[in-house]
Amino acid sequence: MLGGTFRLLLLLLLLLLLPLRPPGTQGHSGAASSGQEDEEPAAWPGVQRLKEQLRTVGTLSKRYWGLFSCTVWPDHCQDQEAPAPPLGWSLPLQWGRRSLDRLTEWFCRFQDCCTGGGDCRISNNLTGLESDLRVRLHGQHLASELVLRAVRGYLEKPQGDKALALSFHGWSGTGKNFVARMLAENLYRDGLRSDCVKMFISTFHFPHPKYADKYKEELRCQMQETRRRCHQTMFIFDEAEKLHPVLLELLGPHLELRVPETQGVEPPRAIFLFLSNLGGSVINKEVLGLLKAGWSREEITIQHLETLLQAEITVSTDSSFGSSRLVKENLIDFFVPFLPLEYRHVRLCVRDAFLSQDLLYTEEALDEIAKMMTYVPEEEQLFSSQGCKSISQRINLFLP
Ligand SMILES: *[C@@H]1O[C@H](CO)[C@@H](O)[C@H](O)[C@H]1NC(C)=O
Repeated sequence: MLGGTFRLLLLLLLLLLLPLRPPGTQGHSGAASSGQEDEEPAAWPGVQRLKEQLRTVGTLSKRYWGLFSCTVWPDHCQDQEAPAPPLGWSLPLQWGRRSLDRLTEWFCRFQDCCTGGGDCRISNNLTGLESDLRVRLHGQHLASELVLRAVRGYLEKPQGDKALALSFHGWSGTGKNFVARMLAENLYRDGLRSDCVKMFISTFHFPHPKYADKYKEELRCQMQETRRRCHQTMFIFDEAEKLHPVLLELLGPHLELRVPETQGVEPPRAIFLFLSNLGGSVINKEVLGLLKAGWSREEITIQHLETLLQAEITVSTDSSFGSSRLVKENLIDFFVPFLPLEYRHVRLCVRDAFLSQDLLYTEEALDEIAKMMTYVPEEEQLFSSQGCKSISQRINLFLP
């Protein structure tokens, strides 16, 4: 709300700087706009429409401001009670109301008050997601395919009867966070900053086991509030292997099947992402074995890894995640393996980092930076131990 108020104030400040039309022309413009009231606003050419709206705002008197703020923030209405307007005011006031509707509609394109059909905070751009996964994510053909299939299936299903839960596994720097961010950016207008998206990092948000009960209450509140505000939410748990059992227990009911709701009411959707390095070593070992046996990386299928990965997660004793209800009762829909990255993938990450900072690069520079990473195992030197982590910082070091 505060951010919205600030944005609106900025907008009004901007408009105050615009020259106002002389008073004599206002009546005319008012009549003209009343005449066009029934027209479809979308039929107006964009620029003319904007001009009209700017003019409208320019003539906002204190009273119009009151009406406007009343429309946008109904809670603040009481103190806006103004005396009945003098006789001559009724026409401009009526005109003001109409313009006000149009202004509110325009204002709401940037705000959360969108109504009528869709919620403008939710973009669900599957084309964008597909293209991001294909172009910006390197060396993860399995994760790319699985994530797209799972999310598309979930969003295209008319009745979301359960939350979608994906668990990402792999070494650090392999792209788990990157994919989580891609999902947020393509499914929500404001990405990770969206009202509908919440990200929790275990060591940051829930650092002390002794406060687990307090964290549980906070998490419960935050999830409830987010789900109240949005009919499609996304919750990301980074370092899921470090989540306290008390918190894991709280999540169980959120992932479960819901009792069917009232007919005709669209049930809310929720996407849960769990990011962890659990099973990372098993994935790496299996991939190394397959590569040494002559398979090409792209020939590796989910069947090669699925069973091994699940078994490893279930038996891992240093984390509560594997023994939680989420895993035991099959509440996780997909376990998504992130493969260890090779030299050529790191090189692509370096190139992307240069491009994203609008910097020129040479092939030698790409090689030089990619060679700065440590490659394991000692004998084969095949996989980057840090994946593509902190590549952009390395670029800064490399710059003159
Ligand atoms: C979806 O994303 C693509 C690629 O980022 C973009 O070109 C397109 O305009 C987006 N579509 C919508 C409806 O936002």
